[in-house]
Amino acid sequence: MIGIVLHAQWYEPLRDTPADRSAAERAIVFFNAWVLDPIMYGNYPNEMQEILGPLLPTFSSEEKEKLMNNRLDFIGVNQYTTLYAQDCLYSRCNCVPSQVDAFVNPTGERDGHPIGEPTAMKGIYVVPYGMERMVTYLKERYNNTPMFITENGYPDASYDNAPVEDLLNDTKRIEYLSSYLASLTTAMRNGADVRGYFIWSLLDNFEWTSGFSLRFGIHYVHYNTSNRIPKLSAKWYKEFLEGGNMVKQI
Ligand SMILES: *[C@@H]1O[C@H](CO)[C@@H](O)[C@H](O)[C@H]1NC(C)=O
Ligand SMILES: *[C@@H]1O[C@H](CO)[C@@H](O)[C@H](O)[C@H]1NC(C)=O
Repeated sequence: MIGIVLHAQWYEPLRDTPADRSAAERAIVFFNAWVLDPIMYGNYPNEMQEILGPLLPTFSSEEKEKLMNNRLDFIGVNQYTTLYAQDCLYSRCNCVPSQVDAFVNPTGERDGHPIGEPTAMKGIYVVPYGMERMVTYLKERYNNTPMFITENGYPDASYDNAPVEDLLNDTKRIEYLSSYLASLTTAMRNGADVRGYFIWSLLDNFEWTSGFSLRFGIHYVHYNTSNRIPKLSAKWYKEFLEGGNMVKQI
């Protein structure tokens, strides 16, 4: 099977207005359909064409045919979080480069309230319903192509000589994983063809630009010795896989 993995971030409108509702649509399209539409349909999404017009590359009919006849076997979904989308089509956009063209200001807060519980990583909030909505969106837009949740997980803050007992007692990670799995289950019960699920991550790791200051593992790693200790979440996940405990309902 050949597929591609998306950094599948979900967006909700900042306000319940037509402008912010379309901003959320555009944000999702510019983040996800940007990559998948050309592969699946040989075309960039309408929302992108309306804004970017002739700046977008076009596909010859031969290329289109090739793409349509050799669609992906699966879509990989890295789903961690959801942000609000604020329309900035007619105002000033102060957003990250990938969202400039979409005329969207992404934000994690509305009136000072975060969209979900903040985590140790900037921009990652706990928003379990985003998993169901993201997977359902992909199911509907891409004719229920098989999906794998290739990443989903929770970061803890860490520093040199952080107390190991606290890192091992990762109740917030269990809360995160169980609520996201419950949300995924709802999407699957409603027909989403999800074939697999991977936690990020089995082990604490070097986390890109955050280095060793974040720990995503369900196993603690002592970086000086490489010793590994299962966290509470590893025990919880093992029991879950053995069918020993139900996923928490949300
Ligand atoms: C790891 O080694 C460094 C350098 O020797 C030391 O400063 C640090 O305290 C050690 N960390 C732990 C968790 O033992
Ligand atoms: C683990 O954390 C929970 C919630 O913060 C706390 O109630 C519990 O006492 C902690 N357990 C241990 C062994 O530290």
